[in-house]
Amino acid sequence: MKVNVALGSNAYDVTIGPGARHELGAILEQACAGYQSCVIVTSKELRGQAWFDIDHRNDATVLEVPEGEGAKSFESLAVLCEQLAALKVSRRDVIVSVGGGALSDVCGFAAAVYLRGIKVIHIPTTLVGQVDAAIGGKTAINLGAGKNLVGAFHQPVAVLCDSETLETLPERERRSGFGEVAKCWLLEDRRSSALASASLDELILLSVTLKARIVAADEFESGERALLNYGHTLAHALEVLALSRDPDMLRHGEAVGVGLAFAARLAFALGRIDESEVANHDEVLSYFELPTTVPQEFSTRSIVDAMGHDKKAHHDLTFVLAGENGFEVVRGVEQGLVAQVLDEFRAER
Ligand code: GLY
Repeated sequence: MKVNVALGSNAYDVTIGPGARHELGAILEQACAGYQSCVIVTSKELRGQAWFDIDHRNDATVLEVPEGEGAKSFESLAVLCEQLAALKVSRRDVIVSVGGGALSDVCGFAAAVYLRGIKVIHIPTTLVGQVDAAIGGKTAINLGAGKNLVGAFHQPVAVLCDSETLETLPERERRSGFGEVAKCWLLEDRRSSALASASLDELILLSVTLKARIVAADEFESGERALLNYGHTLAHALEVLALSRDPDMLRHGEAVGVGLAFAARLAFALGRIDESEVANHDEVLSYFELPTTVPQEFSTRSIVDAMGHDKKAHHDLTFVLAGENGFEVVRGVEQGLVAQVLDEFRAER
């Protein structure tokens, strides 16, 4: 299955399905004609997986970088760029990221800034990567002050979403990936009752198709693309707080699950949706076995403060919320109300 991200001269295909990684050789020949060398960037752990048999003329150099949110740093970026320079990687060459969302973020950012930009192909190996992070050209590293605060838009030349790479995912990683899938399901206004008949490949296809459509309409997030941040105002705040304690405390998808449950309650408190829609959110999240509990360690005050620092907040509390006109970006939500709804939400669980 292929989904085209229709970005004019920067258009590219997302190939979805078991074995999609084996398209790499053909894509290098077609989309990167005349390339001299290909550098695969992955993690030590992924390199050892049985599926790491990627077709690339057998002459690619493989670089290992750390996985995980903690690796989205200036330090990792500098090490990677120095390695590319030591290999004399030129603008004619291609980087191929093979890994999760954090790896494609830092690798995509290196591709965006090294030599002012070289081609990158993503082979995302987590569900978050396949349905979200690797598509749409957002690349970033984190600052102490917030997630993804330094980055660039840099579209890949192709994305290969191979479901075989998901088979070896640790259980927690696999389950948390459904946070972004749940987001797409809700943004597409699907009911929880229809989930039982959807296969994993159909869920990936639905999510990729939604993302491709939105990115094609609003590449640089001046409008509609912000809707993809549904559930992310709280999620990013929780992730920032978790990062300063223990980078392993909260996966992105887990944080998104909590953020979606909270966004439904906030929309309800603002009179935008009724109880049945809150229940639909809860049923979708429960179907995917996503946790919806805010970690006890964080005070409501610290979470609300962290929400105000999110780069999408523009110094105000901004949420994507459901409503009778569909999903909308709602700015200027009062901090007091957010804190109250958050306290009530925490007390429920
Ligand atoms: N992850 C949201 C976006 O790519 O816009």
